[in-house]
Amino acid sequence: MRADEPGPPPDACEPPDLLDLAVQAAREAGAMLREKLGTPRDIGFKKGPSDLVTDGDKASEALIATRIRSQYPNHRILAEEGTTGAESSPYRWIIDPVDGTTNFAHGVPAFAVSIAVEREGVLLAGVVYNPASEEMYTAAVGHGAMLNGKPIAVSKIEEPQAALAGCGVLPHRYRGRWVHAAKAFVRLTQGCRTTGAAALDLAYVACGRFDLFCGRRLAAWDVAAATLIVEEAGGIVTDFDGHPHSFERHDTLASNRALHQFGLHVARGEVVGRPSITASLRRFRTRIARKVAGDSPAPPKAIPR
Ligand code: IPD
Ligand code: CA
Ligand code: CA
Repeated sequence: MRADEPGPPPDACEPPDLLDLAVQAAREAGAMLREKLGTPRDIGFKKGPSDLVTDGDKASEALIATRIRSQYPNHRILAEEGTTGAESSPYRWIIDPVDGTTNFAHGVPAFAVSIAVEREGVLLAGVVYNPASEEMYTAAVGHGAMLNGKPIAVSKIEEPQAALAGCGVLPHRYRGRWVHAAKAFVRLTQGCRTTGAAALDLAYVACGRFDLFCGRRLAAWDVAAATLIVEEAGGIVTDFDGHPHSFERHDTLASNRALHQFGLHVARGEVVGRPSITASLRRFRTRIARKVAGDSPAPPKAIPR
């Protein structure tokens, strides 16, 4: 650096240092959650009967916030269960103390602690930790992505028919039309899965288990850490319009890049794959009815792929 070049701001934190603290906090919170897994949970409900919060979520969040505050008392905190930090700082920690709470509440060992740190909207470090499998996905910006300390990369699969997609089952609306993304993925790829924790689904894209992931209604804490991990693993994360992912949008498409266009087509309802059996039957009945009525058959429609 030349003497006249501006140096880092006086309060600058290095991404690897931020990551170290995130890893430490995730490991500690994860150990506590692992102890609780399979024992009776104290369950509360937030927006509805399927929106759970457990004693584990609250304890995990309290532990993580305590660790952050003790090292960075002036940093802001955005956490799913409402914990806050200092009010004005360029740094913000984004925490999901248990992603996959429903799994955790039922003793299903697929959930994660997710912690990200950003500076003025730029993600610097992220960790997604599954305490049950002891898989720790990490990334510091510019330093690549790791799984348990070993570098990971997105898959190289280019053809949808060789891909495994991550996606929940519910249909969604895109620009006024209903989209059955999971159905399309089932028809056009080798299968469609969800772990039940969006952060893990995204981490699976980062390490090449899934080739793409399509999620909706996701909050900043669901995706912040995993977004950086996917990007550092060579993947891409956008909204369904293909714009770089932002926390203002709750639709998320992550992929190994090669399959991103395909994923966008599915997420927008532009490809649906082979017609369903019901649709085929409906067409068959229409043809018969036309024949009986003496009409000539309609020309077959091309199926978009
Ligand atoms: C949920 C999980 C789930 C996703 C939901 C999220 P939570 O987070 O990530 O996979 O489909 O939209 O709310 O409530 O378990 O932290
Ligand atoms: Ca979550
Ligand atoms: Ca949560």
